[in-house]
Amino acid sequence: MRQPASAAPMIEARDLKTHFRVGGGVFTALAGQKPQVARALDGVDLTIRAGEVVGLVGESGCGKSTLGMTLVRMVEPTGGEILHDGQPITGIAGARLKAYRARAQIIFQDPYSSLNPRLTVGRIVGEALQIHGIGTRADRTERMRDALRKVRLPPEEFEDRFPSDLSGGQRQRVAIARGLVLDPSFIVADEPVSMLDVSVQAGVLELLDELSRNLGLAVLYISHDIATVGYICDRVAVMYLGRVVEEGPVRTILRHPKHPYTQRLMAAIPNVDPLVRRPRVVLEGDVPSPLNVPAGCRFVTRCPYAQEICRRAEPDLLREGDGRTARCHLYGALAGTPVAAEAAKDAAAIAA
Ligand SMILES: Nc1ncnc2c1ncn2[C@@H]1O[C@H](COP(=O)(O)OP(=O)(O)OP(=O)(O)O)[C@@H](O)[C@H]1O
Ligand code: SF4
Ligand SMILES: [Mg+2]
Repeated sequence: MRQPASAAPMIEARDLKTHFRVGGGVFTALAGQKPQVARALDGVDLTIRAGEVVGLVGESGCGKSTLGMTLVRMVEPTGGEILHDGQPITGIAGARLKAYRARAQIIFQDPYSSLNPRLTVGRIVGEALQIHGIGTRADRTERMRDALRKVRLPPEEFEDRFPSDLSGGQRQRVAIARGLVLDPSFIVADEPVSMLDVSVQAGVLELLDELSRNLGLAVLYISHDIATVGYICDRVAVMYLGRVVEEGPVRTILRHPKHPYTQRLMAAIPNVDPLVRRPRVVLEGDVPSPLNVPAGCRFVTRCPYAQEICRRAEPDLLREGDGRTARCHLYGALAGTPVAAEAAKDAAAIAA
């Protein structure tokens, strides 16, 4: 069981938006068409505290990687705010942006292509220190070795090896060490174990969990695998079409999901908890394109409880008494109606 995280928010997104222009080229112009806008992130609120691991789940294309990359400023936000340790990050540039990029690291899913095959492990991990002009040569070597120890790769055994000598799990540990060497306070881990053999996945996840607790790191853990989210996260945020639709303590959300989308996402995935039998709710249809976001609630095209108000008005983010927030009219304007009672019956069956 994880220790309670510190109360201080390390990273905060407020109404964060990242829109991409699509088809702005000459052929679009010649055809007399206007470029379109993909609303990949469309008003995300999220807080991650020091020492906390927050899971981010949702179907493919809902904006998880865009959120991760926007938070570390690899991708420019279109609107809203990012705060790091209480300081605004959204508009910074130059030396301040470089300093932030050292404190906010991202680990990607593919440990095979993310490491330069021509460099030794020691060089790969130490390179960022050189780029940032940190310390003397001896200091850098010591910090590189310390980072390798933190990911449980003894430097005397690993620093002179090449990526081709390593297993997938070891490579991913090297990628994590490369992120740690700059002493970050926030790490995005985007599907960090999805390409690894199942037998080594747990070790890498335990490592992330341990690093978060021991070093007070805020971690955003992006995953399709809700079972692993239950394993290492304190809280979980569920994304749908560029927005967080439900967020809260991991056990509360996995065992008693309230948003109809979360309920269907959980029901679609076996073995969230071997003691829980999943009932009849089904997630039908595909996520609409972010080029064409439905009016009102964005889940309206797939929700079995959709009413007229859902097509007209986007629900507010409502805070519930159990520490979660959910964005659904069933808990606002539709509370107490027959459709809310029907949804509550289905929800009770999911939680059974
Ligand atoms: N550079 C870009 N230009 C245009 N559209 C983009 C760009 N990057 C992402 N998108 C679109 O934004 C949406 C969100 O993509 P994103 O990669 O963040 O989703 P995801 O939730 O990480 O998906 P997956 O689970 O498949 O990794 C998708 O519809 C994607 O096509
Ligand atoms: S607001 Fe309406 S359409 Fe959206 S999830 Fe709730 S009930 Fe379904
Ligand atoms: Mg992704």
